[in-house]
Amino acid sequence: MERTFSIVKPDAVKAGNTGAILSRIEKAGFRIVALRMRHLTRAEAEGFYHVHAARPFFGDLCTFMSSGPCVTMVLERDNAIAHLRDIMGATNPANAAAGTIRKDFAASIEANAIHGSDAPETAKFEIGYFFAGLETR
Ligand code: CMP
Repeated sequence: MERTFSIVKPDAVKAGNTGAILSRIEKAGFRIVALRMRHLTRAEAEGFYHVHAARPFFGDLCTFMSSGPCVTMVLERDNAIAHLRDIMGATNPANAAAGTIRKDFAASIEANAIHGSDAPETAKFEIGYFFAGLETR
């Protein structure tokens, strides 16, 4: 079993797609270990995305991620990190395969409906950034 961290982003929450996205995640065999809706401050978004701080899109990304409520969660299944990225689809929805979450729910590379950790070390940091150990037993 492996754990990953995911966010239903503000665009998808605003559009009323939270339930549909959670349903896809559960149908793909993930157990929801922990889940919480939050409205991130800009500083919280900047801390979460610190690895992208030097990128030209960093400012817009943090503004967007703090623009409305999102749903943060810890997910578990075998091969969770790679499998979640498979069902999410490519970062840019224009390149996402048919049937993926981003193909069906995302509007742009920034407002791309869902985030998923990209590696085990990232998942560990991202889970710990939002959830205490007691919440992820
Ligand atoms: P996410 O998986 O949350 O990780 C970093 C985010 O930065 C990514 O999804 C995109 O939403 C965003 N992103 C990545 N590349 C670009 C880009 N070229 N322009 C704007 N946003 C980007």
